[in-house]
Amino acid sequence: MSVQGPSLRRRALLLGGAAAAVGGGTAAALAARGDGADVAPVAAPPVGAETVPFHGVHQPGIDTHPAQAHAVFLALDLLPGTGRPEVERLLRLLSDDAARLMSARPPLAAEDPELPALPSRLTVTFGFGPGLFDALGRGGDCPAVVRELPAFPTDRLDPRWSGGDLLLQVCSDDPVPLSYAVRRLVRDARSITSVRWTQRGFNPARGSEPVGTTPRNLFGQRDGTANPAPGSPELSEAVWVRDGPSWLVGGSMLVLRRIRMDLDTWDDFGRVGKEMATARRLDTGAPVTGGGEFDEVDPRMVDERGMPVVAASAHVVRAKARNPAERMLRRGYSYDDGPAPDGTPDAGQLFAAYQADAATAFVPVQARLAESDVMNLWITHVGSAVFVIPPGCAAGEFVGNGLLGA
Ligand code: HEM
Repeated sequence: MSVQGPSLRRRALLLGGAAAAVGGGTAAALAARGDGADVAPVAAPPVGAETVPFHGVHQPGIDTHPAQAHAVFLALDLLPGTGRPEVERLLRLLSDDAARLMSARPPLAAEDPELPALPSRLTVTFGFGPGLFDALGRGGDCPAVVRELPAFPTDRLDPRWSGGDLLLQVCSDDPVPLSYAVRRLVRDARSITSVRWTQRGFNPARGSEPVGTTPRNLFGQRDGTANPAPGSPELSEAVWVRDGPSWLVGGSMLVLRRIRMDLDTWDDFGRVGKEMATARRLDTGAPVTGGGEFDEVDPRMVDERGMPVVAASAHVVRAKARNPAERMLRRGYSYDDGPAPDGTPDAGQLFAAYQADAATAFVPVQARLAESDVMNLWITHVGSAVFVIPPGCAAGEFVGNGLLGA
């Protein structure tokens, strides 16, 4: 299976854009109908063939943009008695599997080339929890914030969605190769691990809106608008570790919170109130204080009676970074595991935030939100896990080789 070249990808993008502009459908379909006069009759290659490189300075699946439509976050626990040699063998094997799967090949010794053949931008990202550091005899190297987050007053955490020694984050635009990748990775890990939890998430389908459109969450909000721009220096500074031990430079930290969203009471709340919760409009994501989606909310604006337009406890007012160290990249996924037998929804967000240091980013921001945030009327944090995301690796190396070799 060959990897698509950039010119082919660019052409696919252009053709896709042209087709969308005249009302949807592919360029090939338009040409077949005979009404795509100015569109070349070239079939766009399937998005399934698109790949993301595994090897690099950073691990994939974090600044991979746009976020793929599907994700599985899966936490493994190391079996008792697992030590350094076993952890090294595991990380070597899983890194090799990930490199193969992401380039449309089955793992070594697997004989089913059809399932991984169309990875649809499959990415595999590894995260290390405190138990992995302990198994290496390097417990002191695990950052304190990864070992334990402070307890926030609004937390209602369930151990079944919390913690974990080794995170597998697997993303793809297609749930079929994603399922295959998760299954094969877990299969190769299960001699020395057990599965602690699995959480599946989704975003709007690839192609449902033009590339780069901010996804909608299950409240119907555009979610991710104020993120640092893809490829920007702000994103690099927010996400990647620059100062720290050499095994961590180029890495990051992931805070994954399972946040239940009370969709029944949200449904019944008026639209004006819903928009006041974030101070952004539901249709466009633009601030209620005016401007376009990517403009900032003006928390000082007053109406004709001199009353503030934006509540001081609006989500974005409370969440906005107050210094550069608070910045993070939010790359969340919706989940829907319901309905319960009584018909109530069991849905929400797998809130995934990447930052160079969760102690200076997630912790102070979440402390403010737990203290006061209109959105707390409808959201409850029910799961929590924090992982060190080691830097990426070069071909022939494995993720974590800096830590194990250091
Ligand atoms: C289910 C839970 C949540 C929902 C539905 C939600 C939704 C939103 C929405 C709709 C926005 C405005 C658009 C945007 O910039 O993305 C926003 C902004 C933001 N949220 Fe959340 N959010 C949730 C939880 C959190 C949590 C737990 C944090 C961090 C601890 C957080 C941090 C932020 C930040 C930093 C912004 C951007 C603020 C700005 O600079 O304007 N959110 N969120």
